[in-house]
Amino acid sequence: MDAQALAGFDLFADLTEDHVSRLSELFTEHRVLMGEQLTEKDDFGYSFFLVLGGQLRVQTDGTDVAQLGAGDHFGEMALVRGDRRSATVTASETCRVAKMMAWDFSDLVESYPVLAQRLEAVAAERDA
Ligand code: CMP
Repeated sequence: MDAQALAGFDLFADLTEDHVSRLSELFTEHRVLMGEQLTEKDDFGYSFFLVLGGQLRVQTDGTDVAQLGAGDHFGEMALVRGDRRSATVTASETCRVAKMMAWDFSDLVESYPVLAQRLEAVAAERDA
């Protein structure tokens, strides 16, 4: 997908243009319709997502715990921790997301330790 779309993500701050360009090749862009679930609590997780546009709702056991929008990422917790999905994430409206598969995500965090640290820091906040 277009590397420009990743430029505004805090997660990728300070990465060189070349690195961001290489990362962009691992993401595919998807349009998501209102009501579509991208993760379901307690499922196995096979993908990681960036929000390019639109709002999504994060729920655990039917209760809203957060809203996600452009510039946010989700789906990292199950992949970083080798655990089941911690929450259900549903599109509140038509959204655009970038999706990366779990095997590429593993390569990513191995290759870029700074990303692993940033992902872990956000996951710890979300867990709190
Ligand atoms: P994961 O557990 O893989 O799948 C569900 C995702 O929802 C999770 O990763 C996080 O990315 C996200 N998530 C879980 N809890 C919160 C929270 N409190 N705030 C924002 N996002 C969350």
